[in-house]
Amino acid sequence: MDKKDLFRQELEYVHGVPLFWTIAEAWSEVEGFEARPDDLLISTYPKSGTTWVSEMLDLIYNNGDIEKCRRDAIFNRVPFMELIIPGLVNGIKQLEALKSPRLVKTHLPVQLLPSSLWKNDCKIIYVARNAKDVAVSYYYFYKMATMHPEPGTWEEFLENFMNGKVSFGSWYDHVKGWWEKKKDCRILYLFYEDMKEDPKRELLKVLKFLEKDLPEDIVNKILHHTSFNIMKQNPTANYSMMSKREMDHSISPFMRKGISGDWKNQFTVAQYERFEKHYKQQMEGTTLKFREEI
Ligand code: A3P
Repeated sequence: MDKKDLFRQELEYVHGVPLFWTIAEAWSEVEGFEARPDDLLISTYPKSGTTWVSEMLDLIYNNGDIEKCRRDAIFNRVPFMELIIPGLVNGIKQLEALKSPRLVKTHLPVQLLPSSLWKNDCKIIYVARNAKDVAVSYYYFYKMATMHPEPGTWEEFLENFMNGKVSFGSWYDHVKGWWEKKKDCRILYLFYEDMKEDPKRELLKVLKFLEKDLPEDIVNKILHHTSFNIMKQNPTANYSMMSKREMDHSISPFMRKGISGDWKNQFTVAQYERFEKHYKQQMEGTTLKFREEI
């Protein structure tokens, strides 16, 4: 297959969820993923702080050893389980080749998670971010990361986002689905906004969940190394090691702004009002609450 055919294609539906077409094609391989009991799953809707928490966890696993965490790009240290693009990447195979304990990244909604992760009762860290900031971040990501279909205008993208017609489907279903699942499984549910507000508090929550102790100076070192400005400069964390064909940082850098409340710079008043009305309907009845700025 011609590589250019891989990019900017329409999404394909798997059990009602739109995914990159190459993932849809390889779905049986994804479903067959073999988890190990000591795997830690990092689960997020795209653009919710996946890379941030992944870098934090790799540093925790390596006791704050910065050099060890420079051994490879974040997308190789924490493989993206379901990402299969023929000739480019296969998350399942990458994970097979990793020694335990593994860090595993997924963007799948809860109902699509391969069953072996439940059977092995793997610990899961979920990170959620408010919908409006995710929509904005996702729009710029669609522009720079060519695996996605063309985003169209912001207005068009926002419409698709609200209707769940973006890669990995509905934000509303994703955050609510994982929130419900937390009642029965070992899931630590974190919020991007809390991490922005007090990263140390959130890092200590992660350590407690992992039943791991680290000395204060190592904790502070990890916090420093995972601050936005340091990660933005770090080639093993900022996705600059990805080919330009796949991600063009001159269109929009992967490490874009890293703030809460950027939606205010993007939404028109009319978009805001429409979004809020739709949001209330979608989120009715859930105990899950978001903060939209810090
Ligand atoms: P913005 O586009 O709003 O800047 P993901 O890793 O899930 O794709 O999420 C990417 C978003 O997280 C981007 O948001 C990126 O800038 C932000 N991000 C990455 N590392 C961060 C950090 N250390 N602190 C704050 N935000 C971070």
